[in-house]
Amino acid sequence: MKVAIGFDHGGVTLRDALIEVLTGLGHEIVDFGTTGPGAVDYPDYATRVGEAVASGQCERGVLVCGTGIGMSIAANKVPGCYAALLSNCFSARMAAEHNVANVACLGGRVTGSELAKAILQAYLQAQPDRADHHQRRRDKVCQIEKGNGQ
Ligand code: RB5
Repeated sequence: MKVAIGFDHGGVTLRDALIEVLTGLGHEIVDFGTTGPGAVDYPDYATRVGEAVASGQCERGVLVCGTGIGMSIAANKVPGCYAALLSNCFSARMAAEHNVANVACLGGRVTGSELAKAILQAYLQAQPDRADHHQRRRDKVCQIEKGNGQ
């Protein structure tokens, strides 16, 4: 898969570890930075990665800030982008299977690099659950996005 990645200065500590997972699994990386410790604004990176995924340029995205919270809030403002903040492997698998989240968010100041690698691997290796009840719920999320929530 083509995977867009984006980090702020709080998340860049996980950069090398997550790139290692992505390349190890044979994915192609579209790198939106940042690459160093200089302070940047997480919404800029969330927008770039979110738009790359929502437009179809990339199939998945990975965003990392200090907590993952800012990245997930910002990415979920991009229509067509469904970002999940992940802190454990079970949630990572559920995010892919039940929610079909197309962007994974992690916290570089919260999650250690070995756990972060395991989380990303669990997320990328899980397959969407196409059962009707899950699809119905995902469709309702899309309706909210269109302003038609119940
Ligand atoms: C930057 O200091 C920090 O606020 C950011 O990385 C992130 O945690 C925001 O949610």
